[in-house]
Amino acid sequence: MTDRDDAARAVLRRNDRGGFTVPNGRVYPFQWNWDSAFVALGFATFDLDRAWRELETLFEGQWQDGMVPHIVFRAPAEGYYPGPEAWGIQRQPLTSGISQPPVAATAARVLHDLSAGDAARIRGLFPKLFASHRWWHEIRDPDGTGLVTMVHPWESGRDNSPDWDEPLSHVVPSVDVAHLRKDLGHVDATQRPTHDFYNRVMTLVEEAKALAWDGVSVARTLSFRVCDLGIQSILLRADRDLLKLAEELGFSTEATALRDWIARSETAMQRLRGADGLYRSLDLRSGRLSEAVTCAAFLPLYARTASPEDALALKEYLAATRAVAGFSVASTDPRDRRFDATRYWRGPVWLMMNRMIADGLSGYGLTEEANTLRQDSGELVRRNGFWEYFDPRNGAGCGGPDFSWTAAMWLSWSG
Ligand code: DGY
Repeated sequence: MTDRDDAARAVLRRNDRGGFTVPNGRVYPFQWNWDSAFVALGFATFDLDRAWRELETLFEGQWQDGMVPHIVFRAPAEGYYPGPEAWGIQRQPLTSGISQPPVAATAARVLHDLSAGDAARIRGLFPKLFASHRWWHEIRDPDGTGLVTMVHPWESGRDNSPDWDEPLSHVVPSVDVAHLRKDLGHVDATQRPTHDFYNRVMTLVEEAKALAWDGVSVARTLSFRVCDLGIQSILLRADRDLLKLAEELGFSTEATALRDWIARSETAMQRLRGADGLYRSLDLRSGRLSEAVTCAAFLPLYARTASPEDALALKEYLAATRAVAGFSVASTDPRDRRFDATRYWRGPVWLMMNRMIADGLSGYGLTEEANTLRQDSGELVRRNGFWEYFDPRNGAGCGGPDFSWTAAMWLSWSG
């Protein structure tokens, strides 16, 4: 146990608000969906009960239709926009109206494996996890195509990625929210999305409000409808983990549904493969694949859906981008004109993304590459601390300091 391990645990304890963890008390003072799933992995290294609690409190925000919201506004807090009033959703606990990449089942499987035969917690959570997967496969894929729809860039968790530039350019801003933003009071503007981005994404919130947040109407009609390679891959991986749990726990009807969803997704994923063999996100309105190649390109490895040839192509691609960027994995190809080394998801390195990519590389026997990612990730923290994200050129910390998921990644993986 090192001083840095102690510091990582202290970050989690400090950001713990009593059963749920805020990503960072100033920039993000509520509970976030995929943050909590990664944070659970950090808690699991020293407090397994608390790790389960993180997932359980997240699912207290689950909607009737199965959606797990991207933010659960569990307790009032200052300093964040858009807060509960901007979403206009009347339910308790207060939540946002969109979701985020479904990492929870994969995290739950890890916690269950650590629980030494005690299945009580997973039995309580399983039906909720299953309902959330059904929401993705049915409400967000109403025609059963095998590709799930995201309706808002924040659902991807890779908010301002160049992947969304084209589809977002067709959203006509109907609001101007620049003066409402709070993030720029906490983080340098060069490290955050632009005002134009905020006006467009808040326009999508207004569109969904006008539909009273009805799930299928939102999925069918919002003016931003994209199959995110990230969500698609993370869901497929989580389906596989949930299937393992279903088989072990004897949930046979659910296991059958999961097998069907997995088969459908595997086939449909081929539509995301570009002519150069690299996978991309798909604009479901225009039918066009995104131009940019971003860190999501590696996630078909994490989903275990890439072919061995794909894996070798990604290995080459990783080496080429690392040679240019410095630290891996830059969130946008550093040779792309859209690359911006410090602006959130347009260039910086994110540790939980690295972890999923490394998991994918290991799954294809690319152990050396997986180790490089682990070492890069450890080095970023050793040099600069538990920042939200890092400049790939020099490792400088960006965004919020003392960030929960970065501390969790250190404890459970890179430290
Ligand atoms: C933000 O507010 O920047 C968040 O990423 C939205 O989830």
